[in-house]
Amino acid sequence: MERHKLFRRKSISELIAHSEKPGSTLKKSLGAFDLTMLGVGAVVGAGIFVLPGKVASEYTGPSIIISFIIAGIACALAALCYSEFASSVPVAGSAYTYSYAVFGELIAWVLGWALLLEYGLASASVASGWSSYLQGLLAGFNIHLPHALSGAFNPAKGTFIDLPAVLIVLIIAFLLTWGIRESAKVNAVMVLVKIAVVVLFIVVGIWYVKPVNWTPFAPFGFHGIVTGAATVFFAYIGFDAVSTAAEEVKNPKRNMPIGIIASLLICTLLYIILSSVLTGIVPYTKLLGVGNPVAFGLEFIHQNWVAGFLSLGAIVGMTTVILVMTYGGTRLVYAMSRDGLLPKGLSKVNKKTKTPVVNTWVFCIIIAFFGGFISLDKLAEMVNIGTLFAFTMVSLGIFFLRHMKEKPKSAFKVPLYPILPAASFVLCLYLIFNLQWITWLSFGIWLVIGLIIYGFYGSRNSTLRNE
Ligand code: ALA
Repeated sequence: MERHKLFRRKSISELIAHSEKPGSTLKKSLGAFDLTMLGVGAVVGAGIFVLPGKVASEYTGPSIIISFIIAGIACALAALCYSEFASSVPVAGSAYTYSYAVFGELIAWVLGWALLLEYGLASASVASGWSSYLQGLLAGFNIHLPHALSGAFNPAKGTFIDLPAVLIVLIIAFLLTWGIRESAKVNAVMVLVKIAVVVLFIVVGIWYVKPVNWTPFAPFGFHGIVTGAATVFFAYIGFDAVSTAAEEVKNPKRNMPIGIIASLLICTLLYIILSSVLTGIVPYTKLLGVGNPVAFGLEFIHQNWVAGFLSLGAIVGMTTVILVMTYGGTRLVYAMSRDGLLPKGLSKVNKKTKTPVVNTWVFCIIIAFFGGFISLDKLAEMVNIGTLFAFTMVSLGIFFLRHMKEKPKSAFKVPLYPILPAASFVLCLYLIFNLQWITWLSFGIWLVIGLIIYGFYGSRNSTLRNE
């Protein structure tokens, strides 16, 4: 029956066997440290360097600290669920692959399609944020790009393309096709720089904290705090991208959970301390319309040289976000193509570099297009809804995974089952309900497009169906 085929599942052993087919095997070279670095690399970016200005001044005031804690708890719970899956089904493709094992092909496609939105738009929007920071820094040295090349397509304002955003995505594409080991090394150096500037901010700023700035603590009430949480959720996105690397990891059963949980812990801690210091040194009302709140905070306390360093670190920091998000996207396309849901050429691996070269260029050119021509500020929430949707499904999936006989016994398990996966499911759903209706609408349209593509292409070419 047609209906059955749509929900046909792949067994865990089948998934692993598929991933080990010659000609499409990725190189297993990453350890727990690399994974943690990849995680922090994907996570700390525009969400902490740009968003707190808007969120603190418009939604939360100093209680942005609570918003970061709520979003952090939701992510920590989801991270435990991701860890169980990544350790039980160590195959590229993250939540997409997991749902192939527990929910069947149709839901797997829908989830994969939602994740493409997450990784694609996150990379593109962070690329445009990167471009604004770079242009800001260059302006300090009196270097200015021609106006037409300095922003997204908007003839009324005289801008046609955001050239730096396009260039950074293409550079990342080059790096990713060069080799995963090399990419991980470059990433690790940049992540250390990024952590260093965040710590620098905290160490310098903490001496200037005035507790009076923390009152009133929640000027916009609880509703503001929750809206803030649904928005700063963006700042945590990326730890899930670690799970897309499963096939390139040595001993994934052990290293995957360590990588995912450690990177999230580090980021949560940094965010809570940073937002406490930031709201402690600047009255939240002063952050209205500020696009670089963290550097602004330092200028506010007359630490201009530190602010300069911070801007540089933010640029480096956002580079790693683009790197890892793009990496996650290419591995997802790789997995979907290997399953026949996207054209086969996208899962070919280059013999020399052992990376999916064609796939990387196709994916990056599309992202470069988005980053270069379309202003993505308003679409940032789209990234959140796509991700929260995936987190919800992964949390739900744990209930199914636990009952599967083939689940490896030694794999990591979410503690306090079934309470924690249930809490993760409910909390992520609650955050989805706190996003704006326009986000829901756009996401709905995206899913409909995905279903049409599946109907015309994926459902006919699926490897599983044709077997
Ligand atoms: N978490 C990533 C950032 O904040 C997407 O830039």
